[in-house]
Amino acid sequence: MKLAISGKGGVGKTTLSAILAHLFAKDGYKVTAIDCDTAMNLPSALGIKTKLKPLSELKDLIEERVVGPLGTYKLNPKVDDIFEAYSVYNEDGVRVLVLGTIEKGGEGCFCPENAFLRAILRHAIFREKDVLILDMEAGIEHLGRGTAKGVDLLIAVVEPGSRALETLGRIEELAKDIGIEKIAVIVNKFIESEEAKRLIERIKHPILGKVPFNECFIKADISNIPPYRICDLEPFKKIKAEIERLCR
Ligand SMILES: Nc1ncnc2c1ncn2[C@@H]1O[C@H](COP(=O)(O)OP(=O)(O)O)[C@@H](O)[C@H]1O
Ligand SMILES: [Mg+2]
Repeated sequence: MKLAISGKGGVGKTTLSAILAHLFAKDGYKVTAIDCDTAMNLPSALGIKTKLKPLSELKDLIEERVVGPLGTYKLNPKVDDIFEAYSVYNEDGVRVLVLGTIEKGGEGCFCPENAFLRAILRHAIFREKDVLILDMEAGIEHLGRGTAKGVDLLIAVVEPGSRALETLGRIEELAKDIGIEKIAVIVNKFIESEEAKRLIERIKHPILGKVPFNECFIKADISNIPPYRICDLEPFKKIKAEIERLCR
């Protein structure tokens, strides 16, 4: 299952990515989690204490792999060994990589970093078995058309508010542009109310589940403890089962 988790900043993408990675790993899946967000805080949510070097910072290596003779760019540089060498494993055996910033220069941007990082994503999406989790931003366009085709499910995380729903609209458009077909939604920080109910009724995509607002997640974040160690995982077990059903 190749899952891309997207949504506006602060909705809970990293929290959900870390918890899902944990649950899939506990269930015996081989899990790879890639931090594609500029905030780059997925490793700490997965309990990794060492500072991971973002792949985008490996300037010399990128030059070496991407820039060919006479300064031409290779669009498919070799990256499989780099993927192995820069992976770190957490306590659950989840493989973690940090991508760093991909410039959103659109189709016309052939900067070496972009070619390199996209090659890494392509490698991950087309080679990794079991579960791949991409913790992304709301702007998912850097996946690129060819890469996005390998993503089984785009999970849009929303808070029940009108601004989040606007973001959902943008994510839908982007997904369509780059050829992602399946979108599902997780409603996070849910607080029961009539307004929230009405807003949620406007969502056209399958809803994987609602995660209640729970201060435990904030506590975990402040104390830098992976949320799955101290917070209630019940809502996520249902979400995991729904993902398995949708990707079957
Ligand atoms: N269900 C929830 N209830 C309360 N706080 C939450 C919930 N989910 C996430 N948070 C908190 O919201 C903040 C942002 O979450 P984070 O996962 O970093 O978002 P993102 O990766 O989308 O920017 C964190 O402090 C996190 O602990
Ligand atoms: Mg994040």
